[in-house]
Amino acid sequence: MSPVRTVEFPGFIQTVQLLRAQVTTPDEYPYSIPALRGFETLELDGKVTFLVGDNGSGKSTLIEAIAVAAGFNAEGGSKNFRFATRSSESPLHQHLRLVRSARRIDGFFLRAESFFNVASEIERLDVTDSYGGVSLHEQSHGESFLALAQHRFGGNGLYILDEPEAALSPQRQLSLLAIIHRLVEHERSQFLIATHSPILLAYPGALIYQLGADGIREVAYEDTEHFTITRDFLNGRERFFKHLFDE
Ligand SMILES: Nc1ncnc2c1ncn2[C@@H]1O[C@H](COP(=O)(O)OP(=O)(O)OP(=O)(O)O)[C@@H](O)[C@H]1O
Ligand SMILES: [Mg+2]
Repeated sequence: MSPVRTVEFPGFIQTVQLLRAQVTTPDEYPYSIPALRGFETLELDGKVTFLVGDNGSGKSTLIEAIAVAAGFNAEGGSKNFRFATRSSESPLHQHLRLVRSARRIDGFFLRAESFFNVASEIERLDVTDSYGGVSLHEQSHGESFLALAQHRFGGNGLYILDEPEAALSPQRQLSLLAIIHRLVEHERSQFLIATHSPILLAYPGALIYQLGADGIREVAYEDTEHFTITRDFLNGRERFFKHLFDE
């Protein structure tokens, strides 16, 4: 069992530790991912923590392992979801130790990639009413995603999201920011989010970790590529085109 801390911490998971001594295949996936090579511990914010990094940097691998170690289904859902349409989760979760607060973990794990399967499971369990009364399959991707966040993220929860922006227009990303704010500030919730969205990343006071060739390090919002490239692009996209299309 994971150790339980007695000091007051606003969230559910305070620290993620990799028990390196247990790893027998350090040169294989997922330990071979550059960001995870030297990985030992990660302190999470009690409210909102983001994982950023290039495609293939290891965000989904790490976030899924944390979710599974926390008791969630590898493909997503709330803690009582047990369906699996594939079984390709990495073994990383077996060697993670979560330093947790005394609160019992409840909440939701959502991967953009398997949202369709989560929606199917909700229908199978016949709990459509908890999601706004309209089948998630009869709403658009973004509508159903936001309906789920609005109706099923009930507060006092740990919410682990992998690229939630994949479904959401910029306007709906702002709506998600408002949902996050309500849940962390008024309903004692904690979020861990892997994202490429400069809008979501702007959440005030969030802790941002960048996964890269040199490991996992904390980064300021204004120093993320998401912020700098988006800003520079919007401020002068012609310069980018000149560089990108130059033959
Ligand atoms: N089942 C697997 N077996 C072997 N390698 C894998 C497996 N799943 C992912 N990888 C590799 O691990 C690396 C990290 O993948 P991961 O999906 O965690 O990246 P990511 O940061 O989430 O990327 P993206 O931003 O594109 O979602 C990639 O190089 C990927 O090819
Ligand atoms: Mg990913």
